[in-house]
Amino acid sequence: MKNFSSVLLKWYQANKRDLPFRQTKDPYLIWLSEIILQQTRVAQGLAYYLKFSKKFPSPRALAQATEDEVLKLWQGLGYYSRARNLHTAAQSMNGKFPTTYEGVRALKGVGDYTAAAICSVAYNMPYAVVDGNVYRVLARVFGIETPIDSTEGKKEFSARAQELLDKKYPGDYNQAIMDFGAMVCTPQAPQCLVCPLAKKCHAFQTGNVEKLPVKAQKTKVTERYFHYIYVEQGPYTWLHKRGAGDVWENLYELPLVETAGAKVDLSSVKWLKKTTPTLVCGPVKHVLSHRIIYADLYKVVLPPSVHVPEKFIKIPRRQLTKYAVSRLVQKLLEKI
Ligand code: ADE
Repeated sequence: MKNFSSVLLKWYQANKRDLPFRQTKDPYLIWLSEIILQQTRVAQGLAYYLKFSKKFPSPRALAQATEDEVLKLWQGLGYYSRARNLHTAAQSMNGKFPTTYEGVRALKGVGDYTAAAICSVAYNMPYAVVDGNVYRVLARVFGIETPIDSTEGKKEFSARAQELLDKKYPGDYNQAIMDFGAMVCTPQAPQCLVCPLAKKCHAFQTGNVEKLPVKAQKTKVTERYFHYIYVEQGPYTWLHKRGAGDVWENLYELPLVETAGAKVDLSSVKWLKKTTPTLVCGPVKHVLSHRIIYADLYKVVLPPSVHVPEKFIKIPRRQLTKYAVSRLVQKLLEKI
């Protein structure tokens, strides 16, 4: 389509969001913003960008932090592997952010999308981004029905995105299409009546806006049942640091009993030493991208003589807020 990128660039100049990471060309800060903004709306990510760029203004500052510190600052943002990878990547760059596409793409946690975003914005390199916004805008404007979660679809959309990229202003073009997708060509209730592309938009002209983009597979969601136990042992409580293997790796949580269904019998939990926890609240429904967790919270008072099992740590209760926990655990702790 003739003019697709010039229409977008013109729209961007008039409507772009004034964001702090758009005032800089520092690749480190742009990287930080892009990692934070993955799977996260700008409105939610902004405060985290400000916190992180202030506390860790350089790769070296981030590399010197502990993982616990980084996770604590990330608390509440979700997808914690982003924070762990951010920290690992900072430690791998020896104080200097990579200056080539290959170098950037090789950083832990940086995929095609992030490498394209960083290199186009910071270095003016001609790499088109493909994120959820881009899939939606291209599928609608060009009437592409290939499923976006198929191998074929991924190839087709990437090739189309690369063709359409404004090679002179790749950074602005990439941010234009993302802002446009977030502000005009939205998933629900898109603003077609004020859209500068509506006349040329295949989906709008054929009444298919709501049907595009096409996704072949529904995300599989599994249900899990968590029973957290808040221990009061004098001035202390117990925490568990989650091990490898899931989205909450290395975050802290209250001692947890997981069951296959909603029913729970805590009498078989050895470390409770035959005490009976009382229910504080729940079940609370917590929805993540691939799972729905039903969580309830119990409280138990243990005498000082009970030894803390090896898998837990014993900490002063007033220090609880120093530990990075998931939003679910944070929510439950507020009920204590
Ligand atoms: N989403 C992720 N990165 C973005 C950016 N640089 N501009 C707009 N939306 C984004």
